[in-house]
Amino acid sequence: MDNKVVLTGIKPTGTPHLGNYIGALKPVVNMSQNHKTLVFIADLHALNTIKKPGEIRQYSDEIAAMLVALGLNLDNAILFRQSDIIGIYQLTCFLMNVTPKGLMNRAHSYKAIVEKNTENGLDVDAGVNMGLYTYPILMAADILLYNSDVVPVGADQKQHVEFARDIAGYFNNTYGNVFKLPEPMISQDAGIIPGLDGRKMSKSYDNTIPLFAPENELKKKIMRIITDSKTPEESKNPDESTIFQLYKHFGNEDEIAGFRKMFLDGGMGYGTAKNILFEKINSVLSGPRAEYERLISDKKQIDELLKVGATRAGIIAEKTISELKKVMLG
Ligand code: TRP
Repeated sequence: MDNKVVLTGIKPTGTPHLGNYIGALKPVVNMSQNHKTLVFIADLHALNTIKKPGEIRQYSDEIAAMLVALGLNLDNAILFRQSDIIGIYQLTCFLMNVTPKGLMNRAHSYKAIVEKNTENGLDVDAGVNMGLYTYPILMAADILLYNSDVVPVGADQKQHVEFARDIAGYFNNTYGNVFKLPEPMISQDAGIIPGLDGRKMSKSYDNTIPLFAPENELKKKIMRIITDSKTPEESKNPDESTIFQLYKHFGNEDEIAGFRKMFLDGGMGYGTAKNILFEKINSVLSGPRAEYERLISDKKQIDELLKVGATRAGIIAEKTISELKKVMLG
């Protein structure tokens, strides 16, 4: 194990689905097996969109329980809630003062809203609160507070990690070499995980398969995957099939090669293929699902776990903040 600090955050804005599992939860759980890892529920980041406290709470508990049920190694990983760490609020305030406003204007997510508003003839900033506008500063604080080296994120978050580097650079230019520059780590092999309708699996398309849906619901969802109208006899392109694209993340190498061949050879109908996919996913997830159900019905245990994590992360945070106070305030 090398000594790099790996850090990632997961925003509690929905019940995690298979896309989140493949793209975020599974990589973090794997990473925690042999790296010092900080993983937190980015509940402060959810505040700019979700205004119902109960919802943020519920999604946060679900994510924490899921990570543990999936085997997050708690000897190596510190699991905590972002909002439990006072240093986050402090560092965000500090970083505001070295971050050029123009940098925020260039954020993809903000620019997308400005463009949409412009198209619709609205004020450019319609619907934009400061939480959204300064989202990258809060995220830079997450990354810099714990002196992170590596930040595994989806491709859509790459710019945010680059901004954290930029902001660390602005800080260092002003105050000397205080922060390490973090590196984004984009998971290459996950790619885009298709949902039921073949588009990217996303809550906003209403095409998701919940990660720990009960067995019968999982089966129903899988049976609803949209396919083309090829007959069972016809050869099928696995790389264009949602069924195969999902299977790839659950089977072992031989199984994947075998399933690919069944697509190409023909003779397998989509109903059969869906059944094979269901059996595979269910066999991989049924153990963790049972553990998840146990945990999610024991909120006290989740609270305890997160409290332990907050204490451990808080020690690192306090040290950074007290150094920064000296550096910035004298
Ligand atoms: N913005 C990330 C997302 O929407 C979540 C996140 C918040 C994060 N803080 C982070 C990811 C720090 C990595 C590091 O997915």
